[in-house]
Order: sequence, then structure tokens, then C-alpha cells
Amino acid sequence: MIKVLGIHSSPIKNGNTAWLLDYALKEAEKMDSVETEFITLAGLTIADCKHCNWCMKKQTPDKLCVIEDDADQILHKVQDCDVLILASPVYFSRLSGTMACFIDRTRCFTFGKNGHLALKGKMGVALAVGWCRNLGMETTLASLHGAFLVHEMLAPSCHTAGALYGVGVVSGQRDENFVYKREKLGVKDDHEGLNSTKLLVHEALRMAKKLTVDN
Ligand SMILES: Cc1cc2nc3c(=O)[nH]c(=O)nc-3n(C[C@H](O)[C@H](O)[C@H](O)COP(=O)(O)O)c2cc1C
Repeated sequence: MIKVLGIHSSPIKNGNTAWLLDYALKEAEKMDSVETEFITLAGLTIADCKHCNWCMKKQTPDKLCVIEDDADQILHKVQDCDVLILASPVYFSRLSGTMACFIDRTRCFTFGKNGHLALKGKMGVALAVGWCRNLGMETTLASLHGAFLVHEMLAPSCHTAGALYGVGVVSGQRDENFVYKREKLGVKDDHEGLNSTKLLVHEALRMAKKLTVDN
């Protein structure tokens, strides 16, 4: 069974990023032997990494980080998954602060006493939702992608999907006069973005399954 964990960082629980992540997980479920889990960081208490280095000296399998907050349970799920999908809204041309904060807490896997680079070899998929197509979408994806690379995770590109660092999907949809429509879930109308998401998720699962067979 391939475990796919999707985490999104929009403060809007049923907003565009949440919808896109749900779409990506449903695409994953279409493949055999896949189980998925959806996590929202909205409303959770996730403190900044303190750079105390506790994880380097005292980490145990049960306790990954010294800070006791909502990140604890999620970090265990990250450790347990095969494919990690991180979905962030685009904020000022980068990932959201909530996602950055959560990613910083995954430092317990880079130098943790339980294992150096504990996430190495897992598959990572970056998704971004921006109001505009070219107002920071790819820089947001690059910041998510960079986190995967620091962990020595595998983050597939997909030429057919037109996806290098991941997939950006647009929530701001315009009418025929180039005026923005006030749609709550504009991502649903970005057919190119959704198709690319589907293709990239399928590619990540194809690679994850291949790795499972090869090992
Ligand atoms: C603080 C803030 C900064 C934003 N900066 C950008 C931006 O730089 N580029 C962009 O395309 N959209 C930007 N947006 C718009 C959001 O990315 C967009 O509305 C997206 O759909 C939010 O996802 P959500 O519906 O899941 O919350 C910003 C929104 C907020 C709240």
C-alpha cells in the first residue's frame, strides 16, 4: 500500500487550496493500492522551530521534537508516508507563513538522532494556488520544492504536465472583459492546472510504486 499524505496551509478550510488538495488526493485514489490522508494546518498550533537542537541529541522514535503542539502528530504521519503533497496558497510570491513554519519543524528529520535525512527517498509533490498565473506561482513552488530537496526527497517533474517544480493552479478567474469574477472556488475552472495536477500526482505514484518494487 502506498501512503499519500496531503497537507495544506490555507487559513480557509474550504477554500481553493483545500479543494485542490482534495482533488489531488482523489486522483491518487484512482490508482491501485493507494491510501490517502488530508490534513489542514488551519487553526492548528504550530510553533516556530527554536533551533534548540534537541532533536539532534535527544530524539526518540516516539518523540521527534521537543515542542509539544499540533505539529507532533503530523510529523509522525510525514515520517510514515510514501508520498508527501504540500499545498500552499501563494502569499507575496512565496509559500504561506504557516507552511514555512511547518516545514521548519521538519528539521527534526534532517539531523534527528533517530536518523540523518530520515525522509530521504520519499516522493514530494508541490502544489500552489495563486490568484494570478504569473504573480509568484513558480517561486512559491520553488520554495516547496527546495524543502523536498533539502530532505533528499524525490520530487518528479512532468514534462507532459508542464510541471517542473510542481503545479500552480489559478483561483482568480476573469470574464470575457478581463474582469475578475467573484467566484469562491475559482480553481475549479483552471482546467489546465487541474489536468497538470492529475498528471503530476500520477507520475509521483508511478515512481513511488516503482521504488517499492525495486526495493
Ligand atoms: C497575504 C496574501 C498575499 C497574497 N499574495 C499573492 C501573490 O503574491 N500572488 C497571487 O497570485 N496571489 C496572492 N494572494 C491571493 C491568494 O493566493 C489566492 O486568493 C488563493 O486563492 C488563496 O488560496 P485559498 O483560497 O486556499 O486561501 C495573496 C493572498 C493573501 C491573503
